[in-house]
Amino acid sequence: MKQIDRETVQRIIDTADIVEVVSDFVSLKRRGANYIGLCPFHNERTPSFSVSKSKGICKCFSCGKGGSPVNFIMEIEQVGYQEALRYLAKKYNIEIKEHEMSEAEKAEASQRESMLAANQFAMSHFESNLTDTPDGREIGLTYFRQRGINDAMIKRFHLGYAIEKSNKLYEAATKKGFKAETLVATGLCLKSERGTIYDRFKGRVIYPVFGVSGKVVAFGGRTLKSDKTVAKYVNSPESSIYRKSYELYGLYQAKQAIASKNKCILVEGYMDVISMHQSGVENVVASSGTSLTEGQIRLIHRFTENVTVIYDSDAAGVKASLRGIDLLLAEGLDVKVLSLPDGDDPDSYAQNHSATELEEYLSTHETDFIKFKTSVLLRDAGEDPMKRSRVISDILKSIAVIPNEVTRTIYIAECSRMLGVPEDVLMLQLAKFITERIENESNRQRQKAARESIADLEQSESATDTDAHTGATVDTIVPEYISATDTRLDKFEREIIRYVLKYGMVGFCSVEDGHTLSLLEYVKAELDAEDVSFSIPLYKKVFDTALTLTARNWNNDYSSFIASLDRAKAKMIEEGLDEIRSKAASVADVKALETALISRADEYYESSKADFTDEYIEKLLLSSPDDEMRRLTTDLVSEKYTLSKVHTKYTKIETERDRLIELVPRAIYALLDAILKVSIDDIEKQLNVTTDPAIITDLLQQYMEKQNIHRQFAKVLGERTITGKITRRF
Ligand code: UTP
Ligand code: MN
Repeated sequence: MKQIDRETVQRIIDTADIVEVVSDFVSLKRRGANYIGLCPFHNERTPSFSVSKSKGICKCFSCGKGGSPVNFIMEIEQVGYQEALRYLAKKYNIEIKEHEMSEAEKAEASQRESMLAANQFAMSHFESNLTDTPDGREIGLTYFRQRGINDAMIKRFHLGYAIEKSNKLYEAATKKGFKAETLVATGLCLKSERGTIYDRFKGRVIYPVFGVSGKVVAFGGRTLKSDKTVAKYVNSPESSIYRKSYELYGLYQAKQAIASKNKCILVEGYMDVISMHQSGVENVVASSGTSLTEGQIRLIHRFTENVTVIYDSDAAGVKASLRGIDLLLAEGLDVKVLSLPDGDDPDSYAQNHSATELEEYLSTHETDFIKFKTSVLLRDAGEDPMKRSRVISDILKSIAVIPNEVTRTIYIAECSRMLGVPEDVLMLQLAKFITERIENESNRQRQKAARESIADLEQSESATDTDAHTGATVDTIVPEYISATDTRLDKFEREIIRYVLKYGMVGFCSVEDGHTLSLLEYVKAELDAEDVSFSIPLYKKVFDTALTLTARNWNNDYSSFIASLDRAKAKMIEEGLDEIRSKAASVADVKALETALISRADEYYESSKADFTDEYIEKLLLSSPDDEMRRLTTDLVSEKYTLSKVHTKYTKIETERDRLIELVPRAIYALLDAILKVSIDDIEKQLNVTTDPAIITDLLQQYMEKQNIHRQFAKVLGERTITGKITRRF
């Protein structure tokens, strides 16, 4: 391939607009001076891909990829510098003077590029067969006409026809200079054992499959024979340019509509996509008969968070696709389902109804997936109690994969209503499934890590593991005379752990540099300062786990929660405003309703944020894979619930949460004092059995000192107790 001259290169670089270039692949939203979207280079659920129009660059703050328009195209299309420039030149109609490729130049072009070129050639070949040959017109075109497909759709989807001869395409392509090996590599041609080369697609109508940027990566060929022994579809095989599980049929034609409608409709087949387009519904893609893959779902997620899956009405189809939907939920997508009237598929429905009827049907028949699944399974189960309980587990498993806490809670409420089972019962079982999932995931991850032999990661994991299991107190500086698990300290340690579980991430106090310590960090700092750690292994395990998990996950979890909360609030306001405008009678009315709406949204925002913070650690540990920790958390957290019920009887009384600043330091003093008492008791015991005067003197010395400190503690604790009582009188 010839080099592009310097002047043209400069023109391309000057013309390419980073926002326009990126928008072809990522749906962007304005955020201040920049634009943001989901990074196309790695899997993410909250946007960290930022585009600066003025600087002309894009960058992912999470994986670091990005750059100028040329870099971006090179990265996303996996092409070289020259090809990226050509891509941009084409996008901006900048002419590059090119001549017929010479033999040598062709050899230079990479394998990938020549395969794509071969596919491009084959597509035009099939297209011109359809309109310019007698067979094409009589067989292929007639077929599309019978199926009700118009010329605009034939053009838009570049439909074609493969002549019923063994090497029509092969001959035409080699004549154009394409090499046999390239044609075989793309799967357009096959090589027999005797070495003869022949076409894969013969006597079939052709549906080219486009990659997201518009390159032809594969073909599907449908037979026109009703002969049941002939495969209905023949498809291109996987190759270096076609990874089936990362492509969706119709996405290239649909992506703009998906982004602008903020919804993607998922159907099964080529014809479903085309017929719906023809009826004006353009945000449609097909998984092409196979069940959805994670790669395909990520592709959808680049453009929208909302997916509607359309089912064929037959029961087997419904059940089969229920499984694929868990994947969509796990990716954090909002999934709706829609079933068509008996006997219809999207193609037939679109063909037999007007465009308005189709729109109308789509907008009125969507149901939320969990509701749909529940009703389908319940209908099957009838009144059989065993079957019904299996249905409940099945649905809870679907809910358990949903990453967003708020969404899960909403679904639980919904299911509780539909299934007639109390919410807290469902919640308990859900926690179990989440635990199972986390266990499986961590097992899988551990296996993966082992396979990839990331030695240090492995080491650190197994180190914390053994630590957790044996409860070894490596860094414990509790005096020797206190045995490792001294039950005399149990209730004091337990009280501190309860605060940590209930309120660990609450901002507790600020330190000199203005940094705010969480309650968890405060407790850690206090205990460290006194060289004390938990003597009961389970408490130590819980405390250490809370420290490790929050250090690892809090920042991320918190920021993605805030991001989803931002969205929820925006949606709430948006929907509220719509409703107000449709209902309100006067301008003053609108004003008042709007103000109320905004303050309701703010309140919702603040209280959700507080709940998230309050419940963060207990939720982490409620779904811990460790039985003991889970049980303890459940116990301690429910203890608190009974307490707060008493409080609510006297509404004027401050809640425990309001008094943390006083209660937590007090609990720590109480523990320190208890440790002291234990050691005083031990000294007394030793004094009783010792006869050596030197040792007795020494022990007495210690005894006095400790008694002294104990008295001071008692004073502090006493004062605090009294303060507590005074507060409670109000
Ligand atoms: P359908 O049989 O529903 O195909 O299979 P369709 O697109 O609706 O085609 P018509 O209406 O019969 O002409 C759904 C999808 O499954 C894949 C194709 O991608 C098809 O679009 N498929 C089906 C195959 O790949 N091979 C097959 O043999 C059958
Ligand atoms: Mn069909």
